[in-house]
Amino acid sequence: MAEPRTAKLTFDGKEIELPILSPTAGPDVLDIRKLYAQGDVFTYDPGFTSTAACDSTITFIDGGKGELLHRGYPIDQLAEKSHYLEVCYLLLYGELPSAAALEKFETTITQHTMLHEQMGNFFRGFRRDAHPMAVMVGVVGAMSAFYHDSTDINDPRQREIASHRLIAKMPTIAAWAYKYTIGQPFVYPRNDLDYASNFLRMCFAVPAEEYHVDPVLARAMDRIFTLHADHEQNASTSTVRLASSSGANPFACIAAGIACLWGPAHGGANQACLEMLKEIGSPDRIPEFIARAKDKDDPFRLMGFGHRVYKNFDPRATVMKQSADEVLDLLGVENNPILATAKELEQAALADPYFSEKKLFPNVDFYSGIILEAMGFPTSMFTPIFALSRTVGWISQWKEQLEDPQMKIGRPRQLYLGDTARDYTEIESR
Ligand code: ACO
Repeated sequence: MAEPRTAKLTFDGKEIELPILSPTAGPDVLDIRKLYAQGDVFTYDPGFTSTAACDSTITFIDGGKGELLHRGYPIDQLAEKSHYLEVCYLLLYGELPSAAALEKFETTITQHTMLHEQMGNFFRGFRRDAHPMAVMVGVVGAMSAFYHDSTDINDPRQREIASHRLIAKMPTIAAWAYKYTIGQPFVYPRNDLDYASNFLRMCFAVPAEEYHVDPVLARAMDRIFTLHADHEQNASTSTVRLASSSGANPFACIAAGIACLWGPAHGGANQACLEMLKEIGSPDRIPEFIARAKDKDDPFRLMGFGHRVYKNFDPRATVMKQSADEVLDLLGVENNPILATAKELEQAALADPYFSEKKLFPNVDFYSGIILEAMGFPTSMFTPIFALSRTVGWISQWKEQLEDPQMKIGRPRQLYLGDTARDYTEIESR
């Protein structure tokens, strides 16, 4: 057996040996857990750019290569050959299901799609102009008040029921958040439909007429769910893990993840990206916006460009671009000015040294907004759709953390730069 490897850290006359941990893929990891005890020092890493906060077997990203694997399977193969609920099973349980296991899982998820009837009152308590993400944060958090029988995190069966409930009910919650804001009646789930078709129907059907789900749109919807299902330790997933590390119940933890996802640097980027494309309006204004993105004195950034981890093409963006072409073709939206602007903007940015030197490539959000808008979703629904897709990732990471015997409450340290101890000054002397 190979000798365990260590790195040496020397400072102030001290020498500390740090074990080097070898992952199955990706760079080695220095184990600094004993650093404070042995060296009386902390490490400083705002934004966690060099810090692993957990070990995980769920998702692997090679940002340099533009590779994304779920349990080892490449995302492009999953997007092409699999479907969302099968990917959910894979993320949750670690292996692709047998035909019988998949059928059982799909049946279980389907049977949990309804919301407690009383939850409708929760929706009705919001203003009609509430952002659907605000409604989702509130309603998902409130699930802990409705589903007490699955909040005991120490009971593996309760954990599993909570996982199934969250995956099953999230489309209903997102669709109802939308229906409420447009003043239409809530549409109840239908168990004879697949996951994506059911969501489309709950969003777009009205009681006055039949609604038929187009299978091409259902497939595109399913693909959007699949492409967003998990993405290792991103901001919202880390938020879920941090919330869960205190022993909080699963519904509270997922509500925390939704809150984090809302920001424009994360899940809100697809909404921000489409709004930006509309503001650009036509390809002839692209140089002006590229110049603004490069200007250090202008806070404007090209939305849908750049990624903390991918320093190459986001593999999800490639699949999403294909889907955008298919959906717009099906809907007969030829010569769509937004798509034309997006394609030219992508080319212009890729040809510009500013973006290539900083390794800024289109991310998954660059094309997803175009598809969602073509399907009939308003921009305010883009991030809720991301949240519903990512729920399985959050839940799988939450489950993995709770099953990890090394689990500790998350408690980062700080580099304190404030005042040292000083005496209180009486108000008349200030
Ligand atoms: N447009 C213009 N310049 C950019 C962009 C952009 N979209 N993204 C990064 N840069 C520049 C920064 O100004 C910085 O330049 P500097 O080194 O000269 O100061 C450099 O590239 C590095 O940027 P950071 O912000 O330090 O990189 P970080 O890894 O922290 O940020 C992020 C990643 C937040 C995604 C960033 O690229 C961004 O804001 N992109 C636009 C928003 C977006 O699309 N978010 C979606 C992310 S994917 C997802 O959540 C599904």
